[in-house]
Amino acid sequence: MATMQSLIGLVNRIQQACTVLGDHGGEGMSLWEALPSVAVVGGQSSGKSSVLESVVGRDFLPRGSGIVTRRPLVLQLHKTEGQSEYAEFLHAPKKRFTDFAAVRKEIQDETDRITGRTKQISNIPIHLSIYSSNVVNLTVIDLPGLTKVAVEGQIETIVEDIEHMVRSYVEKPNCIILAISPANQDIATSDAIKLAREVDPTGERTFGVVTKLDLMDRGTNALDVLEGRAYRLQHPWVGIVNRSQADINKNVDMLSARRKEQEYFESSPEYGHLAHKMGSEYLAKLLSQHLETVIRQRIPSIIALINKTMDELNAELDRIGRPIGVDGGAQLYTILELCRAFDRIFKEHLD
Ligand code: GDP
Ligand code: NA
Ligand code: MG
Repeated sequence: MATMQSLIGLVNRIQQACTVLGDHGGEGMSLWEALPSVAVVGGQSSGKSSVLESVVGRDFLPRGSGIVTRRPLVLQLHKTEGQSEYAEFLHAPKKRFTDFAAVRKEIQDETDRITGRTKQISNIPIHLSIYSSNVVNLTVIDLPGLTKVAVEGQIETIVEDIEHMVRSYVEKPNCIILAISPANQDIATSDAIKLAREVDPTGERTFGVVTKLDLMDRGTNALDVLEGRAYRLQHPWVGIVNRSQADINKNVDMLSARRKEQEYFESSPEYGHLAHKMGSEYLAKLLSQHLETVIRQRIPSIIALINKTMDELNAELDRIGRPIGVDGGAQLYTILELCRAFDRIFKEHLD
């Protein structure tokens, strides 16, 4: 529905403007927390970054064996009308990236800038925005993987540090959890499911995702999990076949990967009957349906927040003066304009 998308788009842009201003909360629920975001949880190399990339439909995240994701990546997707597609980092606001391989390199470089070329992690998020006509308005968060032991070159507390960091994102009630478990490990001992269950006991915001179905031992399958017998969740489990490391090395693109994934399910003796409910594209569809439901429920509280924000902004602009020469003033003014637009569209169409 067009109006819903434009409302989500506006809140997305208001959130982004608030991020630029450094509004990361304040008292009560901030606009930043009003809209849902999607975060991935799982063990190291379970396929988190790969799944997020598939959901977004773009290749740009660093992936690989070992601890590749070492800082939270907060990725805001903005649906635009135009043909051009580009990315911008909060730490380099004047630079437009049109080459997604360069985006991946910048994520790696910016990770190293804070942590050094080590296996250390940092809580400081990288903020990235993608503008494209091919995305849905959404915030997704890539996170480091849960581990069991510190490896050479890591501080002793790394296991708890990572868990603490991941938890700080997924415990927020507006966070939709993609709990990633690789099929070649025992789901009963999945770190993702364990943590998801702790922060979301009813399972209303958890989506169970099983990756690496192609890597299971011969003669075994994940049907007990995928059909909800092994571990019940409110939302259906989704099985995924991401690109293997060999595929990544050969630069297999997203479209071919999705085609291969779909073929895998359709031709599979075990999973053939589930093919229409498996794969990255289906997961993306489930997620966007869920998001729309959640946002509909949240509209009244978002309206209240927008009105409160408008009042505060007006007071602030009265205090610092309307002339908008200074950057901060101009930003406040932008947020105010976006809030007004939201209010107008809402009143015209949905009241
Ligand atoms: P993360 O550490 O959880 O973010 O995992 P990545 O997405 O970086 O993937 C880790 C490694 O596992 C990479 O080499 C991927 O190619 C590989 N991988 C992830 N998912 C799958 C899958 O479904 N099948 C296969 N064969 N390899 C996968
Ligand atoms: Na990894
Ligand atoms: Mg990763």
